[in-house]
Amino acid sequence: MSDPSSSQSIVSIIFTIIAFSSIPLSFSLPFIVLHGIGDQCSNRGVKHFTQELSQWSKSKGYCIEIGDGAWDSWFMNLQEQTDIVCNKVKKMEELQQGYNIVGLSQGNLIGRGVVEFCDGGPPVKNFISLGGPHAGTASVPLCGSGIFCIIADNLIKLEIYSDYIQAHLAPSGYLKLPNNIAGYLHKCRFLPKLNNELPDERNNTYKERFSSLQNLVLIMFEHDTVLIPKETAWFGYYPDGAFNPVLPPQQTKLYSEDWIGLKTLDDAGRVKYINVSGNHLGISKDDMKKHVVPYLEDDASKSKNGRMEEAIVHARTVKSQNEGSVDVTSDGPYYRWPTPIKSFFGELLGITKDE
Ligand SMILES: *[C@@H]1O[C@H](CO)[C@@H](O)[C@H](O)[C@H]1NC(C)=O
Ligand SMILES: *[C@@H]1O[C@H](CO)[C@@H](O)[C@H](O)[C@H]1NC(C)=O
Repeated sequence: MSDPSSSQSIVSIIFTIIAFSSIPLSFSLPFIVLHGIGDQCSNRGVKHFTQELSQWSKSKGYCIEIGDGAWDSWFMNLQEQTDIVCNKVKKMEELQQGYNIVGLSQGNLIGRGVVEFCDGGPPVKNFISLGGPHAGTASVPLCGSGIFCIIADNLIKLEIYSDYIQAHLAPSGYLKLPNNIAGYLHKCRFLPKLNNELPDERNNTYKERFSSLQNLVLIMFEHDTVLIPKETAWFGYYPDGAFNPVLPPQQTKLYSEDWIGLKTLDDAGRVKYINVSGNHLGISKDDMKKHVVPYLEDDASKSKNGRMEEAIVHARTVKSQNEGSVDVTSDGPYYRWPTPIKSFFGELLGITKDE
């Protein structure tokens, strides 16, 4: 009874219980990463990107794959891709208290689809968008300047609003040609719905869900040559019928008539328009730390329980190597077309692969 070592251990047990029981009060929101077209979660670039964000923010990060990755990112339409992610996030136990989304390029439209369309999904708190074609893009941006690309680009412009292309080519879901707005509104299957652009089909639920985000971080790349115009990353775009000038987001109807709640969010100070140097997705570590990490951090790690929490989270965080600068395009999906895609267009055009 008067054994000093046993009372000491009781004290330490009580202390431990108090310390640990305080952890659930301060919980850390996980985040998911949605990659861009031609990319996949197993690629070094996006894997490294997810690990670094996780390490710096001390929050768990998950890259969510859609189908088999690169192929499906091209050839599965965006509604189906969104449905897959919706089902995945509903099943992930870790996300049920809420989570944050980090979108890369096309992945942003899927992420926004999840926010707006995913019935019964867990709540999304912060949405951090890197180079998202939110207002559409006016060119098939992924090809380059070879003769094959010029042909394919023209083909797509001619055929983009056909049912076949809409069903089978993901980027056709957000290609918005200012000189064919009628075709776009009539046939484009994904973006007009996502942006509540169709006057007779506006759904207030999408707006309610989108405007309930806590923070919307829109990162635009100053030297983006992939998104046309680059300001689409901020919801800026061309006026209907012309390729100039680029309207700032506030001058678009989507904003002024508040079709999806962007204005509501902005009026509440919850939209951050960020302009970083670099080409499409070429973000520096400094900019990641400055503009992305703060929205993924666990608020509690700054509280008095923070150090305990931090130590525990740290212990289970996978350490990633710190080398080079982060470029999620380091696997190069944006600047060359994979062979299967070439043959897809080759067949469509009736030309052989080695044209
Ligand atoms: C609007 O979207 C919600 C959520 O997906 C859906 O439940 C509802 O039926 C839609 N309303 C209309 C009028 O289509
Ligand atoms: C983005 O930043 C660059 C360099 O600071 C500046 O020249 C440019 O005007 C900015 N663009 C916008 C839209 O703010």
